[in-house]
Amino acid sequence: MSKPSTAVGQRPHLTLADPEVLSCPWPAYKILREEAPIYRDPGTGMYVVTRFADIRAIAGDTKTFINNTQQLQGRQTPATPTIERMMKEADVEEVNTLVTNDPPSHRSYRTLVDKAFSPKRVAAIEDRILEIAHELIDGFPDGPFDFVQHFAIWLPMRMIAEQLGVPPEMGATFKAWSDATIEATDPRISPERHIECTRLKIEMNQFLAARGAELRIAPDETLISAIANASVDGRPLTKGEFCSLLVQLLVGGNETSTNALASGLYHLATKPDLQAELRAEPEKLKAFSEEVLRLESPLQGLFRRATAPVTLGGVDLPEGAILNLRWAAGNRDPEAFPDPDEIVLDRTNATQHLTFGFGIHYCIGNQLARAELRRSFGALLARSRNIRLVGGEAGVTRLVHFMAHGPTALEIELEAV
Ligand code: HEM
Repeated sequence: MSKPSTAVGQRPHLTLADPEVLSCPWPAYKILREEAPIYRDPGTGMYVVTRFADIRAIAGDTKTFINNTQQLQGRQTPATPTIERMMKEADVEEVNTLVTNDPPSHRSYRTLVDKAFSPKRVAAIEDRILEIAHELIDGFPDGPFDFVQHFAIWLPMRMIAEQLGVPPEMGATFKAWSDATIEATDPRISPERHIECTRLKIEMNQFLAARGAELRIAPDETLISAIANASVDGRPLTKGEFCSLLVQLLVGGNETSTNALASGLYHLATKPDLQAELRAEPEKLKAFSEEVLRLESPLQGLFRRATAPVTLGGVDLPEGAILNLRWAAGNRDPEAFPDPDEIVLDRTNATQHLTFGFGIHYCIGNQLARAELRRSFGALLARSRNIRLVGGEAGVTRLVHFMAHGPTALEIELEAV
């Protein structure tokens, strides 16, 4: 664990709640890694952890640091009574199954979903990724266009929608459900919008529950079918457990993969030499995708709660303290990755980054996400002579968010072969 820091007090105002810091967080991460690796953030009250080794040690100690932080569950807003009533009337229950759950019950759900993500299913999914990537490229307009709107949003969305049994004609509805589920977790949401998001969430839960019932009678090859027909501790899943698992797959796999795809394309569009190298040596696409994931960390950080008073790197944390494990900062720790801010295609530890977390909660969808990146970049480079950013940096709009990171608009032009 890190040595105590003496310089913490010198920067009493540095906070990750500051939009300016979030718009380009790398200098702040460097300061924190070097001067205050366990830092009580004055803006959020959380303990921010930024060194690679510390993050792994904490994520690996699931007795002292748990995932059920009770942050969302405990949040009361003026909309809370209405939302609770709506959920009750619709018989929708949110169950802690994976990312907000802890041992021992996390294990049972995790085993179930791990089985559903069998190597055979992942291989079949990989073929589909390539087909969808080519379909999306076929639909690119002539001239400049926004890569996020024409590709990065739709590839992961269509992959998950198919696996959850959502028919293509429901694409826009599915996107609205998916966006509402993510938006409902934003602490800054207005009560009116929170109620509207809840209505959409209920609609989605009802759709998924009905699909699950159909698939128990007539199973098919999709992921939702495998989960609908699986059992946990020798019994079928309840409706609440079933829907909660699916919603996590939906939320976990959508925006994160969109941001990773858009970030990767930004690097390609601004580095013609890298494009040429990858076109000539497509076997390097895997290394490139890993470097995009490490450098950009679409999910910058997540939370843990201390189950007991604990001293970390000389800082005393009370029981109940909320830790913010900043995967993104650990990924640029020079102790773990020399030349941390550069794309290096021959790192020996290229896959060891923290982008998918560490330990028992390690991302279930990592193989799917990795395949989406590799296949998409491969298809885009194979179908183009050159990809360039239109209007330079002015064509890029970046997300400013506490957890998510990536371009929300990326104006490019693709010179087709
Ligand atoms: C680039 C894309 C992705 C990134 C950056 C990402 C990131 C992460 C991270 C950091 C965790 C660890 C959570 C923790 O330790 O508390 C995680 C867990 C998880 N991810 Fe992903 N993810 C991605 C794609 C996906 C996809 C495609 C899916 C679903 C198909 C998915 C589903 C999940 C689920 C269900 C968990 C919870 C696992 C558990 O608690 O056992 N993710 N992800």
